[in-house]
Amino acid sequence: MYRTHTCGELRLADAQRTVTLAGWVKTIRKFGSITFIDLRDRYGVTQLYFNETLTADLDANPLGREFVIQVNGKVTERSSKNNVIPTGEVEVEVTDYLILNKSEIPPFTIEDNTDGGDELRMKYRFLDLRREPVRKNLELRYKISRAARNFLDGQQFMEVETPMLIKSTPEGARDFVVPSRMHEGQFYALPQSPQLFKQLLMVAGYDKYYQIVKCFRDEDLRADRQPEFTQIDCEMSFVSQEDILNTFEGMTRFIFKDVKGLEFEHDFPRMSYDEAMQTYGNDKPDIRFEMKLKELNGLVKGNGFAVFDTAELVVGIAAAGCSEYTRKQTDELTEWVKRPQIGMKGLVFIKVNADGSLKSTVDKFYNEDQLKQMAAACDAKAGDLILILAGEKNLTRKAISELRLEMGQRLGLRNPEVFKPLWVLDFPLFDYDEAEDRYIAMHHPFTSPKPEQVEWMHDRSKYADIKANAYDLVINGTEIGGGSIRIFNKKIQESMFAALGMSPEEANEKFGFLLSAFEYGTPPHGGIALGFDRLCSLLGGSDSIRDFIAFPKNNAGRDMMLNAPGMIDEKQRKELGI
Ligand code: AMO
Repeated sequence: MYRTHTCGELRLADAQRTVTLAGWVKTIRKFGSITFIDLRDRYGVTQLYFNETLTADLDANPLGREFVIQVNGKVTERSSKNNVIPTGEVEVEVTDYLILNKSEIPPFTIEDNTDGGDELRMKYRFLDLRREPVRKNLELRYKISRAARNFLDGQQFMEVETPMLIKSTPEGARDFVVPSRMHEGQFYALPQSPQLFKQLLMVAGYDKYYQIVKCFRDEDLRADRQPEFTQIDCEMSFVSQEDILNTFEGMTRFIFKDVKGLEFEHDFPRMSYDEAMQTYGNDKPDIRFEMKLKELNGLVKGNGFAVFDTAELVVGIAAAGCSEYTRKQTDELTEWVKRPQIGMKGLVFIKVNADGSLKSTVDKFYNEDQLKQMAAACDAKAGDLILILAGEKNLTRKAISELRLEMGQRLGLRNPEVFKPLWVLDFPLFDYDEAEDRYIAMHHPFTSPKPEQVEWMHDRSKYADIKANAYDLVINGTEIGGGSIRIFNKKIQESMFAALGMSPEEANEKFGFLLSAFEYGTPPHGGIALGFDRLCSLLGGSDSIRDFIAFPKNNAGRDMMLNAPGMIDEKQRKELGI
């Protein structure tokens, strides 16, 4: 046996026991003729005491940080206790030790607050993973997956694996493709999600499916996006939207309770897509705070202020308690909205002073009464600062929704320890793609329109108004999951493909297997997929999902440790016919 205990295990009750420990040298502290070493493993840190004789040995044959050693010794009570760590009341008086392996000096310190930059830590991720904060993140990830599995298992869901080498399943992003050696010139695609397989499992009668599964999407990366990420992917038969919302609200509650000890008091609120867009400017509102968007078009036009007169949308928010903002602060906010990511030309302010009087950057064009009306429309109170943006509708909405989040952040209204879930419902079935001048599926092409609007699929002029039985689970402004009730009727599925501009031949070529399956007794079905990495980062209180992935890619989609992607050699290329 290499060890009798782990480095996180020994307590005062173990005093006088003879033990063997094995682990990594975290720190070495020499005091004259004696030495203390902190020994680390996955479970914790234990202090080792090396007496004078052993210290003399160490002098002759020094240990270094991250050496792997094995020690025998006796557990003793420490004279100066460390209350911060669970093993802090004891130490092990070493009787003999063995170096199992040496280590180079690590390129950064393996401490909670390391001196290693991002790229360096990614390059040596195996060392970064030794750090406690990183290990805690992975432990949290494991706990969440275990909780999800326990919940789903209790509900008779069955995990089924689906293939990774498939044909493209369009979900809006680009596919990663894999060349085939046996079929020269042909390619597999890696799944963007197991969408069609889970539907086929419903046709096959596996009425409650789940899978914690890798998905691959070649899209622009952000803090909450990785090219390969994990979903908790689920599908159910003989269900309505209501059943799915209830089941997965239940799963979310179960996970929060199990992992964080947190209970949500009320049912998750629900909001239509239209309302979310109108009141928050996006389809994943952070409802930890109000600061709702107020359209001001009706109040501001025709007073000679060209910016408002020519704008498609004039919209404001009231930032509570900000009326004392200095000129410097308002100038800085103006610069903030002018950044290319936001893309606005300027920002209009109305200050509602403590005494109720108003001061605005557009005083010239609007009298006190008009400003008061605007303030009332924005629900502004004494002491608030109203921020108004104007311009093209979509751009302005997006900008004000970003500004709202920014103000929420600055005002401390986005506490990561407060969790506010929300179901967003009634998404449009289609989205119009300006660049391609055609309609695309807003969720994916297998999503059912509202049954009463099915006929509208034959009338292009109604496409924009068709709503889907699709839903997103949003928590604290992050889209944690999305799903829909599916089309399960061949004719409707064919109409959907036609609406997306596919000829019957093309639809058959791409999705013949699905259309064929729909001829053999398909049950009504629907499902959802939760972004597992996003759920982890939400519960772990971080913005970046990378912190919760053992071996993540950087923002350019590169694995810094493997240095992938990389070139392949000539022989491989020839074999693959590329
Ligand atoms: P959707 O595309 O909405 O639905 O994906 C489901 C959830 O997966 C997460 N997610 C991501 N996480 C990290 N990196 C990414 N690149 C990434 N892309 C998506 C999000 C998202 O809500 N097949 C459907 C589900 C269904 O209809 O059942 C699907 O994949 O949290």
